[in-house]
Amino acid sequence: MDKIEITGGLKLRGEVAISGAKNAVLPIMTAAILSSGENIIKNVPHLRDVMTMGKLLAHLGCGFHLENNRILLKTKKITSMDAPYDFVKTMRASVLVLGPLVARTGHARVSLPGGCAIGARPINLHIIGLERMGAKITLSEGYIEVKAKRLRGATIYFDIPTVTGTENLMMAAALAEGATVLENAACEPEVTDLANALISMGAKIHGAGTSVIKINGVNRLKPLNYTVIPDRIETATFIAAAAITQGDIRIKKCRPEHLEAVISKMREAGVKITPKNDRLTVRGPERLSSVDIKTMPYPGFPTDMQAQFMAMMAVADGTSIITENIFENRFMHVAEMSRMGADIQAEGSTATVKGVKSLNGAPVMATDLRASASLVVAGLAAKGTTVIDRVYHLDRGYERIEEKLKMLGANVRRIK
Ligand code: EPU
Repeated sequence: MDKIEITGGLKLRGEVAISGAKNAVLPIMTAAILSSGENIIKNVPHLRDVMTMGKLLAHLGCGFHLENNRILLKTKKITSMDAPYDFVKTMRASVLVLGPLVARTGHARVSLPGGCAIGARPINLHIIGLERMGAKITLSEGYIEVKAKRLRGATIYFDIPTVTGTENLMMAAALAEGATVLENAACEPEVTDLANALISMGAKIHGAGTSVIKINGVNRLKPLNYTVIPDRIETATFIAAAAITQGDIRIKKCRPEHLEAVISKMREAGVKITPKNDRLTVRGPERLSSVDIKTMPYPGFPTDMQAQFMAMMAVADGTSIITENIFENRFMHVAEMSRMGADIQAEGSTATVKGVKSLNGAPVMATDLRASASLVVAGLAAKGTTVIDRVYHLDRGYERIEEKLKMLGANVRRIK
C-alpha cells in the first residue's frame, strides 16, 4: 500500500492548477445512463472514484474510456440493472445509478450502502422520493429494488438537504411523466453542475442552485458533451496548505465564487486571499488566528473542508471551536493530529482546538478522504517527517496531490 512522506516546514510558492470536481463528475457520469449514444465528459480528474464509477457503468453494459481527462461513455445498451455490493461498499456514490437506471429501464437493484467512516449516511430520502414518484420499492438481502414502468412527477420535500439525494431525484425526474418539484433541495455547486449537464442533454430544469428545483420531464435526452466544474474542495485544500506554511501561491482554473464561506473564514484567520476571475492568490500570515467554524449545507462552510481547516487551527493563535453539523463521526483526524502534538478535545459534534506553537511529524493514517487531506496539510507545517498511511483514501479524491505539492516546493514523496 502506498504511503506519502512529507518533511514539513517549507513555505509553498508558485502556481497550481485545479482539477475537475470529483463530486460533480460522479453524478454526471451516471446521468449518461439517461441517454442512448456516445457521451463525452471533459475536465475529468484521474481519481480512484472515477475509475470505480467507470467500472460500475461498464458492469451495467456501458462502454467506458478515460484518457487525457476526457471520458467517453457509450450508453446504447444497458444490459444489467444491478449495482452490486462490491461497488457500493467501495464507493457510496454508486447509489447515484439508482435514479437514472429506473428512469431509463424501469428497474434498478442497488446494494444498500452500510455505515461509513464518517457517519451512518442513510439513503432513506432518495427512496422516499422515488416512492413519491410512483416506484415500487422492495428491500431484500441488503439490496433495494426499485420498479416503475414510468416514473411520475411529484412534489418532494427533503427533511434534510441531501446532495446525492437531490441529484438522484433530479435525474429520475428528467425522464418522468410530468413535473417534479424538489423542495429543500441541496444547493451545492455540484448539484447545479449536474443540472447544467442535464439541461445540455435537453432536460427542462429550473432553480438548480436554490432550494426549490422544478423539473419538467421529457421523453428523451441526447448524449452529453460537457465540461465539469473545478473542484472547490481541492482548491480550498491548497488554500489551507499555503495558509499553514506562510506560503504565497497562485491557484488557477478554479471558481472562487464557490468558496465564499471558506474564503471569508480564511481571511478571518489572517490569510490574504485575492480572487480574480478563475484565479486566486493566497498568502499565509506569520501566525494564523483562531476562528470558529460550523459546517453547514452550501453556501455554508463545507463539511468536506472541516478537517483541513482544523489542521490550520491546530497551530493558530488562540482557541477555535469547530462544530460538525453534517456527519456525526467526522472527527477521525483528531486522534491522528493529537499524535502530531495538536491540543484538540472532541466531544459530540464539537471540537475545541487550542493552537500550539508547532506540530511534530509522526506516522499517521486516516480512515477517510478529507481526514487524509488534513494530515497532509498538518504534515506540511510540522517539524520533521510525517508518513501518511492508506494513501488510497487521498487517491479517491485528489488528482496527483504529491506532484502538485512538489511543484509548489513541498518536500513530499510517495513511497510505493
Ligand atoms: N441523509 C439522510 N438521509 C438521506 C440522505 C442523507 O439522513 O437519505 C443525511 C446524511 O446522513 C447527512 C446529511 O443528510 O447527515 C447530508 O448528507 P448528503 O446526502 O448531502 O451527503 P452525500 O450526498 O452522501 C455528498 C458528498 C460528500 C459530502 C456530502 C455533504 C458526493 C458523492 N458526496 O455526500 O462528499 O461530504 O455530500 O456535502 O457528492 C467527500 O467528497 O469527501 C464526501 C464525503
